[in-house]
Amino acid sequence: MAVSAWGQGFATETATACLENGFSAFGLREIVSFTPHQNKPSIAVMKRIGMIRDPADDFNHPSLPANHPLRPHVLYRIGHPTP
Ligand SMILES: CC(C)(COP(=O)(O)OP(=O)(O)OC[C@H]1O[C@@H](n2cnc3c(N)ncnc32)[C@H](O)[C@@H]1OP(=O)(O)O)[C@@H](O)C(=O)NCCC(=O)NCCS
Repeated sequence: MAVSAWGQGFATETATACLENGFSAFGLREIVSFTPHQNKPSIAVMKRIGMIRDPADDFNHPSLPANHPLRPHVLYRIGHPTP
C-alpha cells in the first residue's frame, strides 16, 4: 500500500472485508495470515481484526536463505465467527 495511504485504517478496513468475504462468500472455517516477525504494522493490522498468534505456528520462510533477516515469520489465525 502506498506510504501516503498509511495510518488511516485502509489496510484494516480491507482486511476486515477480506475476512467477511472469506467466511460468508467462500465458507472458510479459518483464515490465517503471516508476515516477517519484525513487520510491526502488518502484525498490528492482524491484531486489530481479531487474529490471534500461537508462537508454535511461527516458521522460517522456506524461500529465504538461513541468515536472511526476513526469514522468521509469525502466523496469526482467526476462526469463523459462528463455529
Ligand atoms: C502493512 C500496511 C498495509 C499497514 O498499514 P497501516 O497504515 O499501518 O494500517 P491501517 O491502514 O490499518 O491503518 C492503521 C493506523 O491508522 C489509524 N486509523 C485511523 N483511522 C482508522 C480507522 N478508521 N480504522 C482503523 N485504524 C485507523 C490507526 O490508529 C493506526 O494508526 P497507528 O499506526 O498510529 O497505530 C503498511 O504498513 C504497508 O503497506 N507496509 C509495506 C508493505 C508491507 O509490509 N506489506 C505486508 C507484507 S507481509
